[in-house]
Amino acid sequence: MVLDIHKESFLLERYPQTKDNNLRAWSNAELMALDYVKDYDSKTIHTFNDRFGVWSCVLNKLDVRVIITHASQQKAIVQNLERNSLDSKVSFLDPLEDYKRVDLALIKTPKSLELFELFLYNIHRSAHENTEVICCFMTKHFSKSMLEIAELYFETTEQTKAWKKARLLILKKPKKDILAKELVNRIEFDGNLFLQYYGVFSSSRIDIGTKFFLENINIKNTETRVLDLACGNGVIGYVVTEQNPEAEVTFIDDFSLAIESAKINLNNKKAVFICSDTIIDLKGKEFDVVLSNPPFHFEFENNIEVSLSLFEMVCDCLKKEGRFVLVANKHLNYKTHLSKIFNSVEVIKENKKFMIYECLK
Ligand SMILES: C[S@@+](CC[C@H](N)C(=O)[O-])C[C@H]1O[C@@H](n2cnc3c(N)ncnc32)[C@H](O)[C@@H]1O
Repeated sequence: MVLDIHKESFLLERYPQTKDNNLRAWSNAELMALDYVKDYDSKTIHTFNDRFGVWSCVLNKLDVRVIITHASQQKAIVQNLERNSLDSKVSFLDPLEDYKRVDLALIKTPKSLELFELFLYNIHRSAHENTEVICCFMTKHFSKSMLEIAELYFETTEQTKAWKKARLLILKKPKKDILAKELVNRIEFDGNLFLQYYGVFSSSRIDIGTKFFLENINIKNTETRVLDLACGNGVIGYVVTEQNPEAEVTFIDDFSLAIESAKINLNNKKAVFICSDTIIDLKGKEFDVVLSNPPFHFEFENNIEVSLSLFEMVCDCLKKEGRFVLVANKHLNYKTHLSKIFNSVEVIKENKKFMIYECLK
């Protein structure tokens, strides 16, 4: 799709691609932020949650430092820069690293307000008295908590008028004497303590679907090569290592803070950690079991396209007699889809809300 803005045209696509033609690679909220900073002479801009790269492309002539939270986000941005023959030597930063000095920051406010706080906290650490933060969002996603979080870190918080159902929240004057804070949640589960960075799936407890799954999986002694697909804080793989201490678990997630959380929780265990949105590179790895509570929510959108493409890849990573066991909401009706990929698909357990499927190659 072509975006015409500030007398320039950009060809911008989503990654991963979607069959839903109504979904664009940018929102009015991001365009509103671009318009607001059009005449700024700030040389360095830090961007947060530039999901598909509209800011990286339109602001390419400036020194843009892109905070990357998702492996798929980085791919989307690089692809769109290349598509527009723009300089792809953009600085990509990790959300937890020291940004050194932030003059101007653009945030597309994420659905997780904890992640929003993590962004603001880290900006604040590198802020000076003239630092300005432009947060953009669709008005239907505004909540009072967004404002309350912003007020923890900035003296001045002003909202603009709405434009095409979007609005900006402008933050100025970083507050002084903010106490250092650990941006992690602590979750007790089954006698163990799990830590997870702000923004990681199911922030205050182990998800009920995951819990149901964990009550019903049995890892055999012979199953030592295990993949925890879309691992979040790593709780599924952790339980595997409890059931079979010989198991070596590979943890994979698209979200870097999920992988960093799993690393903390699996400290001292035989484990491999990969931040990626695909398992194509694991083709031929011959796992005995792949386990998953697959993704379904992506920010404010729900879709099963990502999960379906992961399911197709699972088959190529399993050994001949290997099994894929997953939990999902009943209404997603995955059996139809899984049956097209696997030789046998059985519902091994269900309750009112969830189904656990076991698929054999
Ligand atoms: C429903 S959560 C499950 C998390 C964890 N396994 C649990 O049960 O608590 C789904 C996870 O999928 C991750 N995810 C989303 N898209 C992904 C992709 N393409 N590849 C790998 N992980 C993905 C999300 O970041 C999220 O952590």
